[in-house]
Amino acid sequence: MSSSKQPIPLQDEQEAQTKTETNPDLYQHFASLVSSLPRSQGLSNNQFYRHDQGWNSSLVPMVGAMVADVCFTARPSDIVVATMPKSGTTWLKSLLYATVHREQHPAEAADHPFYSLGPHECIKYFEFQIYSRNSVPNLKELPDPRLFATHVPFVSLPRTVATSGCKIVYLCRDPKDTLVSMWHFSNKLRARDGLEPLSVDAAVEFFCDGLSPCGPYWDHVLGYWQAHLAHPERVLFLRYEEMQRDPAAHVRRLAEFVGLPFSAGEEEKGVVDAIVRLCSFEHMSRLEVTKGGKSDTALGSMPNSLFFRQGTVRDWENHLSPEAGRRIDAITEAKFKGTGLCMI
Ligand code: A3P
Repeated sequence: MSSSKQPIPLQDEQEAQTKTETNPDLYQHFASLVSSLPRSQGLSNNQFYRHDQGWNSSLVPMVGAMVADVCFTARPSDIVVATMPKSGTTWLKSLLYATVHREQHPAEAADHPFYSLGPHECIKYFEFQIYSRNSVPNLKELPDPRLFATHVPFVSLPRTVATSGCKIVYLCRDPKDTLVSMWHFSNKLRARDGLEPLSVDAAVEFFCDGLSPCGPYWDHVLGYWQAHLAHPERVLFLRYEEMQRDPAAHVRRLAEFVGLPFSAGEEEKGVVDAIVRLCSFEHMSRLEVTKGGKSDTALGSMPNSLFFRQGTVRDWENHLSPEAGRRIDAITEAKFKGTGLCMI
């Protein structure tokens, strides 16, 4: 395995290495720009603004994405996790981090970083964490391979991500489960903010109208699907349901995709299964750092437990009416027709 031998920077070291500067004028410039865009209510605790590339987001992450676009310089060795919110990002971040850093941090080590940091602290979002609160960090000192994450659609990735040749791992999920997961998540944030919960019917309406974070869902998935078809060596396209069916096969795919395939010796020692166990819902959701820890984001300090609910497939059947399910399936079928992508 050819992973960097340098120690993996954990939170404090990472902060020291990133020498953060601030640029309030740049953030203010983009905040004014976003504030002038059309806005509406949506499946969130915040108002959505419509980006000129056609997607919806609340103000803070949209500004963060714009700052990332102009300030981030990608390297060919970078790896970016891209997802629609509530597609299983937390799981994918865990699997990728544990796979890439398995030499320095074996999955079975008692001091693995996951026992002290949530997955969202191990791989940070551009628009919620790295480019937030007026910060413009210098990321040059971070050792290769640098791991990042984002929810923005392919069209709005920081421009050097598209031009650098770096790798993107995209994970999508059945839209009905994505919607139900987002509805629960959003209602937890609404309760925190003293807002009334959204009914599931209202959530379905917003979702179908594209008014979910980084929605429309279908455009988001298609953007990365088309990028994957055009550049399969650069964009890996994964599905949550398939990962659930065979997580070990997906860990191997991930490792090969990022250029760190498992050796015969590692296979023999059961390294793949150890990573699967470490990152499993059952294991991660019971960790102290999940139950009591928080991850710092531009939208406030988020309890890590918010990112773990059920971790199952087809939970939508317990919350959506059959009509709502059929309605979403019909939109999915129409939008994906002729693209080679099938989600039903
Ligand atoms: P549910 O709300 O359906 O349970 P994201 O990480 O993109 O925010 O997505 C969160 C969803 O992924 C939640 O789905 C959560 O329970 C699930 N999830 C989190 N960690 C997981 C894991 N290790 N394995 C499987 N699913 C996981």
